[in-house]
Amino acid sequence: MTSASDNIISVRGLTTEFHGGRGDVRVLDNVSFDVGRGKIVGLVGESGSGKSMTALSLMGLVPQPQGQVTAQSILLDGKDISKLGAAEMRGIRGRDIAMVFQEPMTSLNPVRKVWEQVGEPLAIHKGLGRKAIRARVLEMFEMVGIPEPETRLDAYPHQLSGGLRQRAMIAMGLICEPKLLIADEPTTALDVTTQAQILQLMREMRDRVGTSIIMITHDLGIIAEMCDQVNVMYAGQMVEQADVFQLFENPSHPYTRGLLASIPRATEPPASRRMPSIPGMVPNLAKLPQGCRFSPRCAEVMPICRQTAPQLAGVGDGHAARCWLHTPQSALPQEETP
Ligand SMILES: Nc1ncnc2c1ncn2[C@@H]1O[C@H](COP(=O)(O)OP(=O)(O)OP(=O)(O)O)[C@@H](O)[C@H]1O
Ligand SMILES: [Mg+2]
Repeated sequence: MTSASDNIISVRGLTTEFHGGRGDVRVLDNVSFDVGRGKIVGLVGESGSGKSMTALSLMGLVPQPQGQVTAQSILLDGKDISKLGAAEMRGIRGRDIAMVFQEPMTSLNPVRKVWEQVGEPLAIHKGLGRKAIRARVLEMFEMVGIPEPETRLDAYPHQLSGGLRQRAMIAMGLICEPKLLIADEPTTALDVTTQAQILQLMREMRDRVGTSIIMITHDLGIIAEMCDQVNVMYAGQMVEQADVFQLFENPSHPYTRGLLASIPRATEPPASRRMPSIPGMVPNLAKLPQGCRFSPRCAEVMPICRQTAPQLAGVGDGHAARCWLHTPQSALPQEETP
């Protein structure tokens, strides 16, 4: 276990709920994890497992007032940001924590020049004038490998290719040299070659700027290539946490093993590559099964799994799994306390 000071962010008991007409739904349940300084930490899981909600909760971007975010603590570089109000979060967002989204076109304004948008965090957080911002954006464009950067400054978003737009978004994310960059499926919308270039760029930026990265993906190939630590999410909970070697060498949760088994092999035809190999579906969060949330789909299910929810339990050095296979059954099941 690392001490808090080794971590750029340390999340404890993050719980996010939506209150609405159809009742309350808890989309994140007591989520805890750390991101080491200068590390790339993966968040992986099927669609709907809560990856984006984790990112939005950390950024203070969960839709209000339906969404309610609570946490025991969220230490960002040692400072607890979990109780900050909206105005204080605005001061942190884009400066200390920045985010890159899947589809840059939807997060860019189509009628504003690219440089003005990429430079906006500098206007908000550093109060720089237009000339200084433009010069800094040009530097960032060079750094993220945008060719002919000077001519791209005045482009509108639609005049850039998808890969260049994502480079511009990464430039925007890094322009204030944030402590943490959260990348939510940053390459999913890109072709394979561009995807590889963007991932390479993110690794380079981590090395040059020193920014720690949370990499959100459903692709374990990207996790293997990019990440130091991995967090596997299922139905709003962390179900396995390990360093990347442990996760691939010694996956301990049957869900992780299912995800690993569903990694496409290059020899398979593309059509079959998209087939998930874990039978069944992610549960409806409003109607969770009794016991372990994964039990209805689990190949190794035992009677206790259908009765009592397992806790996250250590299975090795810095390696934990939420599974009765790895929990001493003599241990009395305890209620999860947020
Ligand atoms: N505004 C909302 N109100 C209620 N529930 C929501 C809202 N937004 C998201 N959810 C629910 O929160 C859960 C987690 O969603 P989230 O977007 O975090 O999943 P994800 O892991 O990012 O999935 P994907 O891989 O598809 O991006 C889902 O069950 C989703 O339906
Ligand atoms: Mg998502």
